[in-house]
Amino acid sequence: MRILVINGPNINMLGIREPAIYGKNTFSDLLSLIEQTAREEGLDVEQFQSNHEGAIVDRIQSCYGTTDGIVINPAAYTHTSVAILDALKAVGIPAVEVHISDVDKREPFRQISYAGLYCEKTIKGHGLEGYREAILYLKERYGQ
Ligand code: DQA
Repeated sequence: MRILVINGPNINMLGIREPAIYGKNTFSDLLSLIEQTAREEGLDVEQFQSNHEGAIVDRIQSCYGTTDGIVINPAAYTHTSVAILDALKAVGIPAVEVHISDVDKREPFRQISYAGLYCEKTIKGHGLEGYREAILYLKERYGQ
């Protein structure tokens, strides 16, 4: 099973950015956790991070016909990007949305998720562990 994990803007700053909200673990820790999960579960998991909306749209489009599941944290684009929502709809691949923080308990502008309108599950407020949960969900639901 092939899964792509997509991270949006500023996720590469984990460990530096607002540690009281996002924790002290670094982006490199996140990549290691995802790689470890892939190894343990026997999955082919690829990662992609970009600070650019169009690059994320391009990467989602390139999943068409090649990828069985998408885990996506669109970060700030969660709350603004119809383009990312439309790209997910266009490829029609099962997707899970992840947020490191519990966006429900934050500012009003974070209460809208465009990507979440497509994703079949949203995991929020579980820290980096949320990515592992999302991968396991896709494996259980769509693996083999
Ligand atoms: C985030 C929440 C977003 O509101 C924010 O813009 C982010 C990270 C999270 O993982 O908690 O950059 O997606």
